[in-house]
Amino acid sequence: MINPFIYGTSIDNANFIGRKRELEFIKQTLNSKRHLVVISPRRYGKTSLVQRALKRMHLPYIMINLQHVINIDDLISQILSEAQKVMGKNYGLSTSEDSLAEVFSLLENIALLKPGFTIVFKNFQVIKELDSNIVMKISRIIKNQTKTCYIVMGNQEADMKAIFEKKKAPFYYIGEVLRLGKISHEELSNYISNKFLSVAGVQSSREITTKILETTNCHPYYTMLLAANVWQILVNQGLIKNVTELAIEETINQQDLNYERIWVSFNRTDRRVLQTICQHKKIFEDKSFPTSTTFSAVKRLMQAGYIIKTEEYQLEDPFFELWILRHRIFIIDSNVESL
Ligand SMILES: Nc1ncnc2c1ncn2[C@@H]1O[C@H](COP(=O)(O)OP(=O)(O)OP(=O)(O)O)[C@@H](O)[C@H]1O
Ligand SMILES: [Mg+2]
Repeated sequence: MINPFIYGTSIDNANFIGRKRELEFIKQTLNSKRHLVVISPRRYGKTSLVQRALKRMHLPYIMINLQHVINIDDLISQILSEAQKVMGKNYGLSTSEDSLAEVFSLLENIALLKPGFTIVFKNFQVIKELDSNIVMKISRIIKNQTKTCYIVMGNQEADMKAIFEKKKAPFYYIGEVLRLGKISHEELSNYISNKFLSVAGVQSSREITTKILETTNCHPYYTMLLAANVWQILVNQGLIKNVTELAIEETINQQDLNYERIWVSFNRTDRRVLQTICQHKKIFEDKSFPTSTTFSAVKRLMQAGYIIKTEEYQLEDPFFELWILRHRIFIIDSNVESL
């Protein structure tokens, strides 16, 4: 039986959940020839959503992940090779000083031939690491284009704001901004309980779904990860008692080495902040460290994606939270090296 819960790769039609409002927003934005900026914490579903929207609209597009680009020459050659795939022919551009402008004008030419041609940049928050002037250069080029549509996605709220929303930002109001939240509880719950119905029956599928969503707090990626692990146990071992608890254990255990490696890389303040968040206490009320030290730790942990802020601070990974809680006694003793 094929596992209906997909994680870590893009989602096909049949497994895509919810996002009606967001799909409509993207459609309207692209139809009115506006560019689009999508911001969300890591793994909330930016790529899946944008791909789904572009496919539904039958738009030709290329997607570049800036995290996989090492310098400007590499950016140029990646754009070229993707453009070649769309057009089915070879563009013999050499990488020289002004080939950045050249490659973008090539995109504009393609858009003339293929209306609606869209360029998607993933992880746009890292763009400035390529060259300190690159954001300015690209924004100048894009502002002079009328045919090509751009979608940029990023997961660093602060960096993305600095590029798109501050008054002097290079891309100030270049397009519509979509801040992507989690998928709604109702939509996730309907999808999950429906899928479990055939393997677990009405009552158990409801219980499993409730437990999964309680654990992952509706985080799209971790919800699919846990649901996939529950599914696997059900298929391999049948409907056993505490199947969800078992899957949670397995999910934490799969990451044990990884979590340990991450944990030892943190300093004492980072660890204290994470521990406080895991216990659902207010971080700034803990006076055992100066507020400024706590503040820098929070900033650093948010930048690195370990914590996110919704209504309150949370760990990005609910299984890392459970792992930390499990090792709490060691942390309080500050005897972390013995982990
Ligand atoms: N609409 C959806 N339907 C079903 N699963 C989803 C959906 N959105 C996200 N997911 C789950 O979350 C995972 C991550 O989604 P995706 O890669 O699209 O997120 P992202 O925000 O682009 O991530 P990153 O920050 O790593 O770029 C998917 O593999 C899937 O498991
Ligand atoms: Mg992505």
